[in-house]
Amino acid sequence: MCGIVGYAGRKSAQPILLDCLKRLEYRGYDSAGMAVVGDGVRVYKTKGEIAALESEMPAIEGTVGVAHTRWATQGRPTSDNAHPFDGCRNQVAVVHNGIISNFVELRDALVAGGHEFSSDTDTEVFAHLVEEELGDDELLDAVGRALKRVSGTYAFAVVSSGRDEVVGARKESPLVVGVGSGENFLASDVTALLKYTDRVIYVQDGELVRVTPDSVTIVDADGNEVEREAERVAWSLEDAEKGGYPHFMLKEIFEQPSAIHESLLGRIDAVEAESSFLNGSPFSSVKIVACGTSYNAGLVGKYLIEEFAKMPVTTQISSEYRYSAPARENPLVVLVTQSGETLDTIAAAREARRRGNRTVAIVNVVGSAITREVDHVIYTRAGPEIGVAATKTFVTQLIALYLLAIELGSQGKAITAHAKRSIISQLRNLPRAVQDVLNQADAIEALAGKYSGSRDMFFIGRNIHYPIALEGALKTKEISYIHGEGYPAGELKHGPLALLSEESPVVAVVAKDHTYEKIIGNISEVSARGSPVIAVATEDDTEIEKFADDVIYLRETSPLFSPVPAIVALQLWAYYLARARGCPIDKPRNIAKTVTVE
Ligand code: F6R
Repeated sequence: MCGIVGYAGRKSAQPILLDCLKRLEYRGYDSAGMAVVGDGVRVYKTKGEIAALESEMPAIEGTVGVAHTRWATQGRPTSDNAHPFDGCRNQVAVVHNGIISNFVELRDALVAGGHEFSSDTDTEVFAHLVEEELGDDELLDAVGRALKRVSGTYAFAVVSSGRDEVVGARKESPLVVGVGSGENFLASDVTALLKYTDRVIYVQDGELVRVTPDSVTIVDADGNEVEREAERVAWSLEDAEKGGYPHFMLKEIFEQPSAIHESLLGRIDAVEAESSFLNGSPFSSVKIVACGTSYNAGLVGKYLIEEFAKMPVTTQISSEYRYSAPARENPLVVLVTQSGETLDTIAAAREARRRGNRTVAIVNVVGSAITREVDHVIYTRAGPEIGVAATKTFVTQLIALYLLAIELGSQGKAITAHAKRSIISQLRNLPRAVQDVLNQADAIEALAGKYSGSRDMFFIGRNIHYPIALEGALKTKEISYIHGEGYPAGELKHGPLALLSEESPVVAVVAKDHTYEKIIGNISEVSARGSPVIAVATEDDTEIEKFADDVIYLRETSPLFSPVPAIVALQLWAYYLARARGCPIDKPRNIAKTVTVE
């Protein structure tokens, strides 16, 4: 949420900053701005997307600068509230991701001291604080002193007049250094930098960093210099580009067979060898904590762990877990987050540790904040996900949860070697099952076109397919703006049926398992109210056409594994609904990909 970038080099900073900024647009896009260092600092900013900034800015010379794309938290999305902020003397420029929680007192004190403010944001105070501290001093020292006066969360990048350096600081918001040759960078995410370098240094909480064209200096909160080698990033530039697809979301949906394959690679051997990181752990229950789509993956995980490991599992939304009363039990706490930066999930990881629980993170982004907050990390290896709506990261989270469930089951002797072999072979079949769904994209597009005029849509499922209904509804509402609600199919008659009519289609995820007759009953209840029913069912279901108006067929897959192809069908469904409605699919309104505020 909010993307920041800084450049110190010998080339013209403006086009490089714009290019990096566009690659961060998924972090927020309600306003954008840039500052380039010359005699003073030249600041340009505007309301709207980065394209608006690009068309409004004149060409400016200068080889050092910072830029920002905003997701508004404090202050409406206007050009006055866009970053960067300079102080009163046009001497410094600041971009920020995070929240300064004591900004009201700071602003009052600064105004009393003669400073003039031009925005409603929390960030602007920091520009004035740095300006006050700077004088003829080093920018790094001035930023360090200014930081001592602020509370809250931040990734800052700061430049000042006449200096060929960018100073950054990080606390609970991501910040990475890109190490180049004759040029160095700061950015919120490595994806911004892949065109320029594959060598990065992850800035840690409490650290400050100074980049010049030829040097990178990191210091800790006490001012001591920190030695840290650059790491090579495994992601390539192609991974972070659209590659001919009209949207990142569609590209990422189509990458899922290979993402699943990558996620399984090497892991199955470890599962077969029973070389678990969980050996000897004293826990008899599991708690899964996450937000949004990652929470829906966690709910699937609950069914899997209960099935394979016969262990009780609870799930909780991160922002609720943080403030809940600790139970007497001592669960293994599993935190699911694609970005590894979601503030509520990081806070939940800290709380779990405070409670003395063992913690595991399922995460996609290498080196992200959560990896430093937990005892064990399981990487999902989905590659970079740029579309705001999570797709391939969800599916690879499911893969990680299948593997975790098998490990827990083996460890607790709840599954036999034979059962384990059969589960593994089902996992190996998933890329093909997903490819089968992708091959039906045109048919799903046509079907979505038929229902794209709907205002409301309901999604139902039972058992392990209930979270798939939730995830289908979430995808649909966030990108097509159709009001989507997911329910356990048995719950409709406890209230939501009142909302059904011919105008509100119901998507039913149907499994040929012990819940089959029940969901057929639920579908009949829906049809009796006149709502059209679209079923997502497996090919071996020869009855479903009698009950549903339309059917999306999945390859015959055992019910515990069909959540994977089923969600891919619903991702395409949501995508084509949004496309038929002309929605900005990769950048839905009001949403940012990574939520680094509470
Ligand atoms: C929806 C979506 C969000 C995220 C949520 C958690 O498509 O992407 O609901 O799942 O913000 O993000 P992570 O997984 O990064 O913690």
